[in-house]
Amino acid sequence: AAAETNTSTAQKDGDKKITMGFAQVGAESGWRTANTKSIQEAAKEAGVELKFSDAQQKQENQIKAIRSYIAQKVDVIAFSPVVESGWETVLKEAKDAGIPVILTDRAVDVKDTSLYVSFIGSDFVEEGRKAGKWLVDKAKDTKEPMNIVELQGTTGSAPAIDRKQGFEEVIKENANLKIVKSQTGDFTRTKGKEVMEAFLKSSKSENKPIHVVYAHNDDMALGAIQAIEEFGLKPGKDILIISVDGIKDAFVAMKDGKINVVVECNPLLGPQLMQAAKDVVAGKSLPKRIVTKEGVFPQETAEKELPNRKY
Ligand code: AHR
Repeated sequence: AAAETNTSTAQKDGDKKITMGFAQVGAESGWRTANTKSIQEAAKEAGVELKFSDAQQKQENQIKAIRSYIAQKVDVIAFSPVVESGWETVLKEAKDAGIPVILTDRAVDVKDTSLYVSFIGSDFVEEGRKAGKWLVDKAKDTKEPMNIVELQGTTGSAPAIDRKQGFEEVIKENANLKIVKSQTGDFTRTKGKEVMEAFLKSSKSENKPIHVVYAHNDDMALGAIQAIEEFGLKPGKDILIISVDGIKDAFVAMKDGKINVVVECNPLLGPQLMQAAKDVVAGKSLPKRIVTKEGVFPQETAEKELPNRKY
């Protein structure tokens, strides 16, 4: 009902310029940079006035930004939540103020789903399954155990929770596939490298080789690659590398034989978001869930696909 109040105001005003407040996660990865650019360019293109804030991966900063958008009485609030939980209060404030909220990229874990109008983004569980499926196929003739180390995304974030879940669900099919270590690298190159260095060190002292890295995003995979090379091993050969996102840098690493497969996660959500904002302000009802279409790119496809990458 609250969203309707906003809708009718906009309708009365005819084609009044829409103001959107967008609370971004941060600038932690190549994916995020592409996502921000897509949103900013699409807003310009669609004639939407964009108020943009970068939360530096902190939920409290996002909450502050959302409250400030409520105070400024924007027409629509959109955000990509850093973590899944803890959003009820601020979303209720937006609803009470009659401002519709669109989620992009990441989901929130709330009982009352009327607190947001739509969620546009990837199916992260499916991405995890795709990564697991590639490994299960690759390992189908393996008789020996394969030790997997996992570089998780930001703790508590939807992509970290879901990509882990989907991957684990699928690799269960093969008893030889075991995650022996799993830690967060916070979706960044620096932390991915740091965590991988620690994994390699303990694999040496425990005399337990690492056969596979499953990184929840390309930046952490690229950091891990650096750590593996500095350790004197060959990423992509001595250790298989599975990654998620599909940024250009990862395709270059794949072309060079250093990443074995990339599961795509599309950050170019700007145009869909602006359309959704226009629709909601015009009083149209939106699908509760808009899922992004994505592919899987094994190493063999890297060279051909690289020139087509848009992020
Ligand atoms: O929420 C999407 C994830 O966030 C991307 O996979 C990662 O690179 C980004 O930081």
